[in-house]
Amino acid sequence: MQKLSEEIIKKLINAALEVRKHSYNPYSKFGVGAAILTDNDTIISGTNIENVSFGLTICAERCAIFNAISQGYKHFKALAVITEDGSTPCGACRQVIKELCGNIPIIIAKTDKSYRIVEINELLPQAFNTHVAQ
Ligand code: THU
Repeated sequence: MQKLSEEIIKKLINAALEVRKHSYNPYSKFGVGAAILTDNDTIISGTNIENVSFGLTICAERCAIFNAISQGYKHFKALAVITEDGSTPCGACRQVIKELCGNIPIIIAKTDKSYRIVEINELLPQAFNTHVAQ
């Protein structure tokens, strides 16, 4: 796993904390912020956006990744996720992170800015990947 500098980690956590302010979560009341680091050190963020038709909700991690892809970025170095309790990404997000970002380090942060780092391969071992994606 590539070593991330303290400075970059702090920037990612701050970006995730900032975007979390825009979380639209009237149903769960659970705010999530995510920030992804591109290969040229640009930081793109995303938050969770819920819907009354609950299944339409998008998680912060996928919001950040889709936002970055939409802006033309293809390669990523790290992703930070921030919640009050240091929750890890859901299964759907793990699958998306694995395909679009590869085995990047995930900074799992709490709103008090404490954090730990895990790789996506630890969160999603033996990920689904058929010949379709080869
Ligand atoms: N949520 C995320 O944003 N990321 C995850 O990895 C798990 C869950 C959001 C979805 C929903 O708006 C709220 O957290 C409660 O599940």
